[in-house]
Amino acid sequence: YLQLTLAILKPHVVKSPFVLQKIRDLIIDNNFKVVRSRRTTISHEEAELFYKEHKDKFFYNRLLTFMCSGPSDIYILAHHDAIAKWRQLMGPTKVYQAQYNAQDTIRGMFGLSDTRNATHGSDSTESAKREIMIFFKDFNINKWYSSE
Ligand code: CMP
Repeated sequence: YLQLTLAILKPHVVKSPFVLQKIRDLIIDNNFKVVRSRRTTISHEEAELFYKEHKDKFFYNRLLTFMCSGPSDIYILAHHDAIAKWRQLMGPTKVYQAQYNAQDTIRGMFGLSDTRNATHGSDSTESAKREIMIFFKDFNINKWYSSE
């Protein structure tokens, strides 16, 4: 069945037309379907909600500052096994791992630092549902899955 995941192309990607086009091409070439998309500057309130599990981390403030620093492209992507498939295409969170072991992934190619790591992807079906509800309030995810 077509699983959903929430993907974010982060502000440094959206600022760079070449990188943005490359990542869009990868999404299409890997047969993801774009179910919804919006370009928005994430508000501080949205970022707090979105990253609430990281609120005690040392990088939390810099993460929020960065994520709210300019427009992001936010997508609901559908694919068979979308969550794992998108995470595989993104590569590891940490830029040194991405650049050392995974040069052919999105983060390996376009990650600039552990914070500016190009893209986000949900890590489970529960977080995909939660994240989709934050950015696509009118999207009925239960209906999507029940209509299969
Ligand atoms: P993301 O997939 O959006 O989810 C959590 C984010 O926290 C992650 O991508 C990174 O942008 C950021 N992050 C994770 N680990 C670190 C770290 N060690 N230093 C700075 N930022 C980090």
